[in-house]
Amino acid sequence: MLLHYDRGDPSKSIDLTKLVTSELNAQLYCCGPRGLMTALAKAVKQQGGSLITEDFNPVGSKSTDETPQAGCFTVELSRSGLVIDVAEGQTIIEALRAANIDVETSCEAGVCGTCVVDYLEGEPVHNDVVLMPDEQETSVALCVAGCKSKKLVLDL
Ligand code: FES
Repeated sequence: MLLHYDRGDPSKSIDLTKLVTSELNAQLYCCGPRGLMTALAKAVKQQGGSLITEDFNPVGSKSTDETPQAGCFTVELSRSGLVIDVAEGQTIIEALRAANIDVETSCEAGVCGTCVVDYLEGEPVHNDVVLMPDEQETSVALCVAGCKSKKLVLDL
């Protein structure tokens, strides 16, 4: 068993390639933030090995009425005026990261509330399980939200 705690410092992140390489004959199990599970799955695919993941994804429990629109939408950052495209299949967090905009996250599954920000315009699709209905009128969990409108203006 390996316990690794980076204290939120990305420079101290676990070296997953090294871990997978050293545990090639082991059965790896992972349950955690989506980013970690995705990175570990990628390392296992590249290095070989066996991985079982457990994903508590609240998105899967939503009806198709609440599914974000197919295709892309844009997010506008109101403080800078930056406009960023969110491609089909991409989360808002992923699009922001691709634009070198850092937003704090933790679970990346819509359960912790770390990535919640206010929005000023647009119709987000709330796929999280942390925001109450009245909070959804002004806030959005970026890690799992989609968008019904073509543009979502964030208070960022
Ligand atoms: Fe946990 Fe978005 S990072 S709800």
